[in-house]
Amino acid sequence: MSDEKKKKTKRIVKIVVYSLVFIFVIIQFIPVDRTNPPVRNEALWKSPKTKEYAVRACYDCHSNNTKWPFYSYVAPMSWFVISHVNEGREHLNFSEFNPEDGKEAADVVEHDIMPLGSYMFLHPDARLSDKEKLEFVNGLVESFGREDKKDED
Ligand code: HEC
Repeated sequence: MSDEKKKKTKRIVKIVVYSLVFIFVIIQFIPVDRTNPPVRNEALWKSPKTKEYAVRACYDCHSNNTKWPFYSYVAPMSWFVISHVNEGREHLNFSEFNPEDGKEAADVVEHDIMPLGSYMFLHPDARLSDKEKLEFVNGLVESFGREDKKDED
């Protein structure tokens, strides 16, 4: 590469890096909503143990008691975390409980659909051993029942 070309490449790299840093700083100012609304209607857990499992593996996304991790304060990670929590609460919220939603909980745990894999990667303590999973699933069924098997599944 000629010196002229090297210089040009260096300049472009510099512009790109500065732009990325600039964008990173600017997006921190975009307002986001990290909410923990009051608990209005806590699910009726049949055993404290079952609730313990849920707090450990589900409450960050399915309750109004989300423990917001440090990266939920840094854009763009914050956007993913907040949208997961909002979406999670929409489907099932143990703090504003609709018993109909609770009926799905046992199935998604049993089939390893929940908790989300990306979540367990960052929260290894949310991982349940086979024995714990079984206990949790049984506790969920005991607390909220279970949906009849759907044909489309
Ligand atoms: C990292 C956030 C997160 C965690 C932790 C999490 N969920 Fe979810 N959950 C979601 C999101 C987002 C959705 C909606 C999108 C989807 O279905 O993937 C959802 C959907 C659901 C649904 C609805 C499924 C459907 O088909 O409508 C149930 C039931 C559920 N979760 C139960 C649980 C249970 C039980 C736990 C704990 C073992 C848990 N989730 C842990 C984020 C999470």
